[in-house]
Amino acid sequence: MEPFKIKVVEPIAVTTREQRAAALAEAGFNLFNVPAALVTIDLLTDSGTSAMSDRQWAGIMLGDESYAGSRNYFHLEGVVRRLTTYRHVIPTHQGRVAENLLFTTTVKPGDRVPNNIHFDTTRANVEHNLGVAVDCVVDEGYDPVNEAPFKGNMDIAKLDRLFAEVGRERMPLVMLTVTNNSGGGQPVSLANARATSAWCRQHGIPLFFDACRFAENAYFCKQRDPECAGRSIEEIARAFFALGDGCTMSAKKDGLVNIGGFIATNDDGLAQRLSNMLILIEGFTTYGGLAGRDLEAIALGLEEVLDERYLEHRVGQVRRFGERLRAAGVPIVLPVGGHAVFLDARRFLPHIPQPEFPAQALTCALYLEGGVRGVEIGGLMFGKPDEGTGEWSWPELELVRLAVPRRVYTDAHLDHVVDVCARLLACRATIRGLRIVQRADVLPHFTARLAPLGGLLA
Ligand SMILES: Cc1ncc(COP(=O)(O)O)c(C=O)c1O
Repeated sequence: MEPFKIKVVEPIAVTTREQRAAALAEAGFNLFNVPAALVTIDLLTDSGTSAMSDRQWAGIMLGDESYAGSRNYFHLEGVVRRLTTYRHVIPTHQGRVAENLLFTTTVKPGDRVPNNIHFDTTRANVEHNLGVAVDCVVDEGYDPVNEAPFKGNMDIAKLDRLFAEVGRERMPLVMLTVTNNSGGGQPVSLANARATSAWCRQHGIPLFFDACRFAENAYFCKQRDPECAGRSIEEIARAFFALGDGCTMSAKKDGLVNIGGFIATNDDGLAQRLSNMLILIEGFTTYGGLAGRDLEAIALGLEEVLDERYLEHRVGQVRRFGERLRAAGVPIVLPVGGHAVFLDARRFLPHIPQPEFPAQALTCALYLEGGVRGVEIGGLMFGKPDEGTGEWSWPELELVRLAVPRRVYTDAHLDHVVDVCARLLACRATIRGLRIVQRADVLPHFTARLAPLGGLLA
């Protein structure tokens, strides 16, 4: 059961099919353009959508809004130092700014940045600095039916191959994303983080964690890895961080807040360069684009997220959601990840070819059928035309991510989503693909407009 009581409630939208059809057309068949007031169950993201605790709301009232040296900053700094072992704690208003600071400071044109799988903003920030983002996850990370326990692991042989190709000078850092969001929210094992760290040390390359879901990753380690079984979540998390030189963090996930992030590192020189850049784009080093009250809520959230009873419910709720979908015959990525269930659109809609965006078509159908909002992680997000030939390259996976906000929905809400998926499965032959009408070059999925090629969505 939920390890909390519900103290504040918010009504959810109930809409008609006609309203949803009109909203989809108006939105250019892109759920990012649909007003939240027209969404019944919003599984677009687990980012910034958490319900804060009474303690965090109380902390908001203790915000010290001094320009410099706010006491909330020192609270946050203390919590992050204890948890990560990193000396320098630089707040940012969200994770992608931490990435922006890191890559503008370290990446030169032509550099390669390996990661298990880059999240979309991470990839975009590498590419914005004319670097090349290289995904080096183990092969099973691309196999949606392989039930290996640590499908987010880095493939060290792939790092070796990349290094042999480009050498030390072209690899400014290695990133490791825990859990691996774009690969299904799959965890990374402590042994793999250790092996990645050893590889980085051997080659003199810094290792940074993309730590958005560090606590969920630590919980999986505790469940699945005998080495971690008897340890607290905090001990496991600290063991990970101690293997790296720093981390970027979107606190909108495991920080249990609606806005905020940070970058932390032990590298004094880098911290200085990051701080200089921070002042240019975010603000002074003790607030980084956030209010003092936001810093306080993050500090408290980072403490709360380490509670094992919370994590047991959190990861358990997502697992049960996946199990019910599986029992209904809905093809999902296995095993179920920490923050989301990923529908496998290739198997759900095998009749839609990748150039017709099967995962985006499924995302639209979920909304039309039941007011459920998920997000496409497939050809619309990661496919792109070659600058010279115009020929498209496509990602391995066509997924619809149903991300579960933390402490927001009950199992009954998720049952509605299971029903919607089961109904669509029964009429899947009527779902047809989409074509692009308008597409930006950077992070195209946020603003693209599409049109249906017939069938249910037309
Ligand atoms: C793995 C990962 N890295 C980075 C980010 C970017 O964080 P933000 O949305 O706070 O910019 C996200 C957000 O979803 C993420 O999941």
